[in-house]
Amino acid sequence: MRLLVANWKMAPETPAQAKILTKAIAPIVRANKKNLDFIICPPTIHLSTVAITSKALTFGGQDVSFEIKPSSTGQISSAMLASYGARYCIVGHSECRQRGDSNEIVKLKIDRLMEKKIQPILCVGEKSRDLQGWYLGEIKDQIESAFFEIPKIMVKKFIIAYEPIWAIGEGAKREATPLECLEMVIYIRKLLTDLYDEKTARAIPVLYGGSVNEINASLFMNESDIAGLLVGRASLVPKQFEAIAKSISLQF
Ligand code: PGA
Repeated sequence: MRLLVANWKMAPETPAQAKILTKAIAPIVRANKKNLDFIICPPTIHLSTVAITSKALTFGGQDVSFEIKPSSTGQISSAMLASYGARYCIVGHSECRQRGDSNEIVKLKIDRLMEKKIQPILCVGEKSRDLQGWYLGEIKDQIESAFFEIPKIMVKKFIIAYEPIWAIGEGAKREATPLECLEMVIYIRKLLTDLYDEKTARAIPVLYGGSVNEINASLFMNESDIAGLLVGRASLVPKQFEAIAKSISLQF
């Protein structure tokens, strides 16, 4: 089964708009559910609106606090996410890393999620590419830190999203090419094979994210050996999201 994750980022602005968007997304999920699993990640403040508006959606958080103590103003705990029914949570998104999430912080956040049985959607990606392959070291550090002391039995709870930072959001230079993505998927599997074994590495879905649209979605699916896509901006535009879903579910 292929996977389509929607990251709504810091949108929409009002609960009424969140309700409208949810109502537009729910039929897309229903229409493609034979071939695709969807995970919708709205801003935390809209989780209850999304959950109440559509019982059919599987949803996740976009981030979680690493704090345990309740005196952590402004933070959202994994217990809170779980209580709203979030089964997944994005962690290590580049926009959070840019705001200061180090590999150590991402690791703590993963621990908090695991404590509440929320499945991490771990984002990894390099800031830029070079011709010597130094950027591979950045991915290695991110993966090794995230999986440190994670027992083999828990590894299949993870989803990994390869999201090159230069390809994400409004400041994106371009999307990755399917070949650049394939290279990284193979490398991520090698890292996981070194940490665990080949079977375990194969069991973890690896997604691509970064400027995905209805034109490039099927290219990534066909040429990059990925299990699915993580879509940001285009997931906020139901027509585009629908076109992406259709184009990748048609490959069967
Ligand atoms: P984008 O974002 O699709 O808008 O580039 C991807 C993401 O948020 O991970």
